[in-house]
Amino acid sequence: MSSRWHSYSTMAELEAAAVRAILQAAQLAISRHKEFHIVLAGGNTPRRIYEALRLADTDWPAWHVYFGDERCLPADHAGRNSRMAGLAWLDHVGIPAAQIHVIEAERGAELAAQRYAQTVGRVAQFDLVLLGLGEDGHTASLFPHHDQGNAPDAPVVLAVYDAPKPPPERVSLSANRLAAARQVMFLVAGESKRQAVHDWRNGMDIPAAAIKPAAGVDVYLEAGLLESAGRTQAG
Ligand code: 6PG
Repeated sequence: MSSRWHSYSTMAELEAAAVRAILQAAQLAISRHKEFHIVLAGGNTPRRIYEALRLADTDWPAWHVYFGDERCLPADHAGRNSRMAGLAWLDHVGIPAAQIHVIEAERGAELAAQRYAQTVGRVAQFDLVLLGLGEDGHTASLFPHHDQGNAPDAPVVLAVYDAPKPPPERVSLSANRLAAARQVMFLVAGESKRQAVHDWRNGMDIPAAAIKPAAGVDVYLEAGLLESAGRTQAG
């Protein structure tokens, strides 16, 4: 599977490039099948990208939004990925509420996972999946030493317990389900991701590497992380 690494010397450049790529994917999907199905990443790195999308000139009624993972917190909790995306972007644009598919993580991981499996079961292939990268190489809520959901019979949505990143209880789309996409974009920023980037580029079996779409993945990252990845080993 191919990985294409796109490095940027500033976060502003990375964010602008990511916004362009997201809107290009939307335009292509809408021109081809009148709808755009996008999966959102959580965490902090995509926040400013979501804020920039607020101003976009696009056919919002054709957008269908899903979440790659969610934290089992109350629905209106600021720590929820759905709240982060809502405050930054979704609450401010014309995407019909019925097309914003939030994970009901407030119901507990097990029930939320079962219910979300029905929701994503209605989409054969996502047009675009956005993902982050954690210090330990996790992505979405697929953590090291946990089920990645990449076995042939893996459930499409996983209930996650004992996650090393708080909160410990989470819901995550499986690696297989995240890979069922025309395009997968990783958004990677922050000094703390250096070792994970190094491990990934050196073929180590980190959770992010378990996402294997047919078209390969695009990794948008800060140039600094790419340059010194090698040095980490030598240093
Ligand atoms: C979450 C995310 C998680 C995130 C990474 C990177 O719910 O925490 O889905 O996978 O993308 O931990 O987080 P940052 O972008 O905040 O560094």
